[in-house]
Amino acid sequence: MFAGGYKFDLGSNKANSANITPDSATGIGAWTEERFLTKFTQYREEKAYNYNPGNQNSIMPLSILAGIKDEDLKAIYAYLRTVKPVTNAVEKFPK
Ligand code: HEM
Repeated sequence: MFAGGYKFDLGSNKANSANITPDSATGIGAWTEERFLTKFTQYREEKAYNYNPGNQNSIMPLSILAGIKDEDLKAIYAYLRTVKPVTNAVEKFPK
């Protein structure tokens, strides 16, 4: 659970969901709360978007998820610290 690897294949644009378990090497175990929040909150500002066709186009709906309140993001982060760490290296942006 939460170990990532779900494949999104939109033809020329491919992405695999990330391992967001607390595994330090292959998940987000080494992420601080601040880094986790920034993953979302940076997209509250339009200037954070750097559209670059064919290169690291996440399928993650970050423009929507950026609207999650800080306190809820903190609660999600705290919850994710409690799930079982799973070692699973995921290539997030396969060719
Ligand atoms: C509140 C809900 C969500 C949380 C907390 C979350 C969390 C995360 C985090 C922290 C990462 C980065 C991990 C890293 O860089 O190693 C990530 C990446 C990713 N997520 Fe999500 N996610 C959520 C929703 C979604 C949804 C709805 C989708 C797909 C429809 C999605 C698809 C992906 C994909 C494909 C990646 C890897 C590419 C990338 O880093 O952008 N996520 N997610």
